Amino acid sequence: MKAKMTVNRTFAIDKVDPRIYGTFVEHLGRCVYTGIYEPGHKTANAQGFREDVKALVKELNTTFIRYPGGNFVSGYNWEDGIGPKESRPHRLDLAWKTIETNEVGLHEFAAWAEEVNAEVNYAINLGTRDIDAARNIVEYCNHKGGSYWSDLRRKNGAEEPFKIKTWCLGNEMDGPWQIGHKTAEEYGRIAAEAAKVMKWVDESIELVACGSSHSEMPTFASWEATVLEHTYEHVDYLSLHRYYGNPKNDLKSYLAKSIDMDNFIKSVVAICDYVKAKKHSKKTMYLSFDEWNVWYHSHEADKKNEPWQQYPPILEDIYNFEDALLVGCLLITLLKNCDRVKIACLAQLVNVIAPIMTEKGGDAWRQTTFYPLAHAANYGLGTVLRPFIDCPVYDSEEFSGVPYVEAIAVHNEAQGEVVIFAVNRSLDEVVDFDIDFQGFDVDSVTAFSELSGFDVKAVNTKAAAPVTPAGALSAQISGSVVTAPLKPLSWNMIRVAVK
Ligand code: AHR
Repeated sequence: MKAKMTVNRTFAIDKVDPRIYGTFVEHLGRCVYTGIYEPGHKTANAQGFREDVKALVKELNTTFIRYPGGNFVSGYNWEDGIGPKESRPHRLDLAWKTIETNEVGLHEFAAWAEEVNAEVNYAINLGTRDIDAARNIVEYCNHKGGSYWSDLRRKNGAEEPFKIKTWCLGNEMDGPWQIGHKTAEEYGRIAAEAAKVMKWVDESIELVACGSSHSEMPTFASWEATVLEHTYEHVDYLSLHRYYGNPKNDLKSYLAKSIDMDNFIKSVVAICDYVKAKKHSKKTMYLSFDEWNVWYHSHEADKKNEPWQQYPPILEDIYNFEDALLVGCLLITLLKNCDRVKIACLAQLVNVIAPIMTEKGGDAWRQTTFYPLAHAANYGLGTVLRPFIDCPVYDSEEFSGVPYVEAIAVHNEAQGEVVIFAVNRSLDEVVDFDIDFQGFDVDSVTAFSELSGFDVKAVNTKAAAPVTPAGALSAQISGSVVTAPLKPLSWNMIRVAVK
């Protein structure tokens, strides 16, 4: 099969905001405890954080980490996680029916995030708390000193403010499962008032209002419109969440689910622009896709969990090769929409629907889905070029007109390279992929890495990690055209040096 992508140096979508390579650490299951933090582990540092996990997080190069929830945050008192560890309370976490020990809180997490070179994205509790707690935490984190909360932070060991720039105004407040679930009117009002006082404490912060928990919520679209009616001038981003699965084992439809993500993004952009027009506003609302991933493998196992344990193994999806291919397609979709999607968080980072797994007291390893994100986060920086792709399409049970090739090109001006990310969705055919570089002098292909050739259900475990990228066959250059063979069912990264 043949396919052709044309990219032109001057036809840009936008610059990639590095926060698009975000992830998420929730106090849920073993994400924090026995995930990033495990005092007594052979690699634990003096603060109790695992160095083996830190090394993998750095390799992933995630730029931005949402914390501390998720559903957890809607019942969380942030003050429980500050001060001497021995006096921190153990609490019932009603979201996940576990016991939260509060050994890790703001200070510990902020210090750890700095060590892995990631920015903290802090979600406040708008489930059980109010605007008072919202303004206090901003004062605690970002005010220099000379006030009650900022001086308490200094007393607790952080002389310098944490300078947290991006804040989420609650989590999934449209969902009946949420502690303190609200109607769009109720949420819109409290989010606007919280936003006002938080920005009065620190006008440099940026705020994310909650959109729908997913696009199939019965209130989807009207929720967004109502929430933005109240918050439009106070917030900077609207959130989107979406998880995918392949419970019917229909691979052709599964790999096309990025089309659903694309439609979802476009619908939310339309709603934002409708409110902008209605309000005669000059401001453009950007999107924070702050939860996205594959999530379905662990559903049955999680039904059997006993309540009120400390850090039980929940939401521990073991990802296979087809999941990595879909994650690749979803990443490409986020990049295609980078003019509006400025933030995105793969949910989550360790153990809980995560690219990194750990064993308590044992090893840490990379799941199959680690690789597309690691490739994109390490090499997908610069300007995204609008891709013109000429490619055969297929129909599946759920989607029609699905292109066999999903691809994007990112021009990294500083490095003098264009990096192509491409997925071949064909089950059995190699695609001879021509990439025509208009407005560039193509110098050489410096790297061509692929994830391919595995059984679609192959997984990585602590014992064996068969699903890892390898160098691909060499790509050919002819004038301005690079031709790369994309193997059937493959994720590919092609780095091309250009002038
Ligand atoms: O990421 C797991 C959960 O999914 C989060 O806690 C919640 O926000 C979403 O429903």
